[in-house]
Amino acid sequence: MPEDRQFYLAQLKERLQYYREMGIDSLSVKASLNTGLAATPVKEASFRPGPASSSIVSVKRSSLFESSASHQRSGESLENIRNDLGDCRRCKLCSGRTNIVFGSGTSQTPLVFVGEGPGADEDAQGLPFVGAAGQLLTKIIEAIQLTRDQVYICNIVKCRPPGNRTPEEDEIAACSPFLFRQIDSIRPKIICCLGAVATQTLLGTKTPVGKLRGRFHDYLGIQVMPTWHPAYLLRNPAAKRDVWDDVKRIRALLDELG
Ligand code: URA
Repeated sequence: MPEDRQFYLAQLKERLQYYREMGIDSLSVKASLNTGLAATPVKEASFRPGPASSSIVSVKRSSLFESSASHQRSGESLENIRNDLGDCRRCKLCSGRTNIVFGSGTSQTPLVFVGEGPGADEDAQGLPFVGAAGQLLTKIIEAIQLTRDQVYICNIVKCRPPGNRTPEEDEIAACSPFLFRQIDSIRPKIICCLGAVATQTLLGTKTPVGKLRGRFHDYLGIQVMPTWHPAYLLRNPAAKRDVWDDVKRIRALLDELG
């Protein structure tokens, strides 16, 4: 058996075990090869600081179709996952939150953005990426000819860490299963990880984003593009060029998938 298949099966086994522990003992499987988005030309947008550099990394079409055929939606609705989360008290972040920030956008999308955790604005409104970093994310999404309504946006943790500190391991451990279920429900073609926490949690690595961004990685058959967090871009505008390169790769893959 090829090594990547073995790795996938090990991940799948782990995920099924997790579902069993959550009390879910059956999953419906439905084949679909549609990405849901028409091909649209990439247009440079205002967040882009300068000319795009490096070429687009191509992902083998065959591997994408293989993914589509072998990795399916869980069949669980986002509403069900939200209901299960309830008035969550699974970790200490619950004590300081105003609202749980579950996610926003559409479940019928080939593209999911995953951030770190809500900030003050998100906590107040109960919506992800609505503050200054969120406005930049909106521009990034629009730069690849999409709107926030056409994608899904969520975070590794759903409650605001005090003072916007980095979420701690126990908090990530308590919250990330809900993110994994959201992803399994949506089954996007591509996940864009914003920053280190999202990237490292999803890919199960401690490697810095700077070493991982710029190319696609695999998460259970989904193509994962790590990139800089929009909040980092606010502090380091020069890094916008990297993000522009990364989202162009995402756009190209969406176009390739038709
Ligand atoms: N930063 C994040 O990581 N997520 C948000 O929702 C807002 C800011």
